[in-house]
Amino acid sequence: MNFEYTDKVIEHFNNPQNAHKMEDASATGEVGSPTCGDSLKMYIKVNENRIVDISYLVYGCCAAIASASMLTKMVKGKTLEEAMQITEEDVADALGGLPTRKMHCSNLGVGALKEAIRNYKRRLKMKIVIPVDENLIGTGVCPSFGRTPYFMMYDTESKESIFIENAAARSAGGAGIKAAQTIVDNRVSVVIAPRCGENAANVLVAAGVKLYKSTNESAMDNIQSFISDKLLPLDNIHPGFHNHGNN
Ligand code: FES
Repeated sequence: MNFEYTDKVIEHFNNPQNAHKMEDASATGEVGSPTCGDSLKMYIKVNENRIVDISYLVYGCCAAIASASMLTKMVKGKTLEEAMQITEEDVADALGGLPTRKMHCSNLGVGALKEAIRNYKRRLKMKIVIPVDENLIGTGVCPSFGRTPYFMMYDTESKESIFIENAAARSAGGAGIKAAQTIVDNRVSVVIAPRCGENAANVLVAAGVKLYKSTNESAMDNIQSFISDKLLPLDNIHPGFHNHGNN
């Protein structure tokens, strides 16, 4: 089907602005369209509550590309609150209009932007936990979750870390579950670890805790990597690990 596009849409489609990955993003947001299956990932860099840089990667049609391109131009320099007010209609208007059947395409960019802002704000007020070898800043990540001697807990609001002794480390069995319960009791939002036993992971996930995979860097560097959205979700979850007293 052919659509009538405005000159502005064609211009942004032919020469999309800010269409690239951002390595040092403060946060990202990703949405898929239930209408067509296309998707868009938005990257934002925030400084003092203002979006100082923005970019995106999109798998979508001409309207989606042009809308995302225009949206990035509209958003750069705005506060997070101002950016949250932008609607798909605003983007379509800035492009001189979109065919009615293409309005959902402009919502990809707007939806991903709002998701990125929500993710950024969530990260401003959360507790992150990592199993660590020592109760010292600069410590490395402990390979065992349930039997780690300490958990380092970082508060993104106060930017302070405390160390929690892992009482479960000396348990005869079920160390992972007990350690997970300690984390849940401390109202932690995110755990970063190299691996996790299935029972412990079930306790954490049921409480809404998100799991991310650590890298070989120090615990503090891992936290910074998480805040910069560079860590991947943890997929190293071992069924039956708990049976060997080593989770
Ligand atoms: Fe999928 Fe436009 S048709 S984004």
